[in-house]
Amino acid sequence: MRILTGLQPSGKLHIGNYFGAMEPAICLQSQGEAFYFIANYHAMTSLHNGPELLANTRELAVDFLACGLDPAKAVFFRQSDVPEVNELAWILSTVCPMGLLERCHSYKDKVAKGISANHALFAYPVLMAADILLYDSNLVPVGKDQKQHLEVTRDLAVKINEAMGEGTLTVPEPMIRDESAVVPGLDGQKMSKSYHNTIPMFGEEKPLRKLIMKIVSDSTAVEDPKPTENSTILALYKLFVSDSDYQEMVASFQAGGFGYGHYKTLLWEAYWNYFAPMRARREEILADPGYVDQVLRQGAERARETAATVLNRIRKATGLSA
Ligand code: ADP
Ligand code: TRP
Repeated sequence: MRILTGLQPSGKLHIGNYFGAMEPAICLQSQGEAFYFIANYHAMTSLHNGPELLANTRELAVDFLACGLDPAKAVFFRQSDVPEVNELAWILSTVCPMGLLERCHSYKDKVAKGISANHALFAYPVLMAADILLYDSNLVPVGKDQKQHLEVTRDLAVKINEAMGEGTLTVPEPMIRDESAVVPGLDGQKMSKSYHNTIPMFGEEKPLRKLIMKIVSDSTAVEDPKPTENSTILALYKLFVSDSDYQEMVASFQAGGFGYGHYKTLLWEAYWNYFAPMRARREEILADPGYVDQVLRQGAERARETAATVLNRIRKATGLSA
């Protein structure tokens, strides 16, 4: 079984990205043949600053490896190192009805937000379908926001198979992550770069501590019991500690007697300790820049081998080659 997913290199990783996307991908890397890539072509739909794209791509590679992506288990590569994906995107676009793309929420949302609609933003789901279909992927773990793009991918694969012959493309299954796993941000809304409420995974100790102390809480008096429902502090604490430590904090909330500052300090310590091994691994990786280059080079080679086989099959089926 081939498991494939992509992450856009769009700036500093936050703990929502970690628990929502990276940790699940890392858990899955031993469950099948994992293909994980950095979607730098996709990032270009909103970023046109070369040095920044390059730096973000590198940072995501370092962070993913620091978090436990194991290049011996997963094929880890940059999307642009397999430019063949653009050929498949073209082939898919020849069977893609305009209406299918016009209905895509993420495109409509971005346009509604005032982002100027370039062709790439519109065609984004076709490139994403090519990412998936180029590697004969069976399972694609993604967040709920990507569900519709997976439906487009399946539609396009079926259309190609109908037109060019069954078995030309492998129709993938989505694996949609549980939405109850949404990590709240500093203000209690979903943690997201666009809401400016994120807690980064990596950074300097002092500013990060300050950030956690800024988590929005209510004005319950120190001695009074604190509400446990919808508590951002509790929801975040749960991610970092054992169930018994979590239950202890719940009980303390219910008993009263401590102010929110106390709980934020405990949360800070839990967060800082949780990421300590990843921070240490990240320092090691940063000290050896050749390592990341080598991982990405080998990943690209392996990805291209698979891509070449699949593309060869598609080129024959379409009549592009004999
Ligand atoms: P952002 O909302 O900060 O721009 P992205 O949309 O780039 O984040 O998300 C990248 C990945 O991280 C996606 O798979 C998304 O589902 C996951 N993710 C982002 N924020 C959260 C969150 N608050 N909780 C759980 N998963 C998240
Ligand atoms: N669009 C995805 C996101 O923003 C990233 C992505 C690009 C992707 N190509 C993919 C995810 C292929 C899964 C499979 O999160």
